[in-house]
Amino acid sequence: MQLEDKIILVTGAASGIGRQTCLTLAAHGVRIYASDLNAKGAVETCEEIQDAGGRATSLQHDVTDQASWCEVVEVIERQEGRLNGLVNSAGLMVVRPFHETEFELYRRQQTVNVDSVWLGCQATRTILSRSAASGGASVVNLSSILGLKGGAMHSAYCTSKGAVRLMSKAIAVEFGKLRIRVNSVHPGLVETPLGLGSMQDMIDHGAPMPSLEAAVSMVAQRTPLGRAAQPIDVANVIAFLCADESQYVTGSELVVDGGFTAQ
Ligand SMILES: NC(=O)c1ccc[n+]([C@@H]2O[C@H](COP(=O)([O-])OP(=O)(O)OC[C@H]3O[C@@H](n4cnc5c(N)ncnc54)[C@H](O)[C@@H]3O)[C@@H](O)[C@H]2O)c1
Repeated sequence: MQLEDKIILVTGAASGIGRQTCLTLAAHGVRIYASDLNAKGAVETCEEIQDAGGRATSLQHDVTDQASWCEVVEVIERQEGRLNGLVNSAGLMVVRPFHETEFELYRRQQTVNVDSVWLGCQATRTILSRSAASGGASVVNLSSILGLKGGAMHSAYCTSKGAVRLMSKAIAVEFGKLRIRVNSVHPGLVETPLGLGSMQDMIDHGAPMPSLEAAVSMVAQRTPLGRAAQPIDVANVIAFLCADESQYVTGSELVVDGGFTAQ
């Protein structure tokens, strides 16, 4: 994949899909800016990249805060003068029956999962479009299969991921003339703190599953490829969407669910 010497900002880089995306992109020669609210976790991601001979800088970043986005872009502008890609992976998942989901919790879900993507696309538009003049630029937004289908106890989360799906398409239409591609990625269950935590939350809120292991095994049995995803399954797809090989792909939704939603 043509990724060598690109500069890519990954949010949610301290954990799960974001961390693995940083490692995978760095292994392809990308210079990584790894941002997260969890500064220590972002530093650890960068140390792992540097230990393997890659280049990475960690940034503390609250993706819900416009000023924080401005600071992050300013650092990249000052240090590099260009940015070839943005991966919006920071997120959280509220798991609660609809009637028990307080409005504040619902709002928090939209702020972290939806406002963050909006703010990120606005904050990076200028530097991405300038960098895109020589070879294009790419934005990858993490949605979910729960942005395509409904799920019990996931009304707030589904609302947020459905919004990310259509926001990505709408921005892709406007960013096309700037040569910035925008796509959404839709994983099924991925074994990360968020993915496994959400299964445990479902059990805690009365879902009829005896244990976390049993819940993951139930998902695996219902998945045509017979297992839940690992972060690398998603990171490889994100890398493709950041690479030159996907230069004619924009406004699309790439499902990474082992066939779960094909049934
Ligand atoms: N794991 C899954 O099963 C799954 C499935 C579909 C989609 N997704 C989506 O993929 C993305 C990554 O999920 P993951 O499983 O890697 O989760 P994770 O919990 O492992 O990592 C999420 C990261 O986002 C960071 N974060 C949260 N709020 C933030 C904020 N305000 N500012 C900056 N950083 C913040 C956290 O600190 C954490 O490091 C999320 O958008 C999630 O909704 C995950």
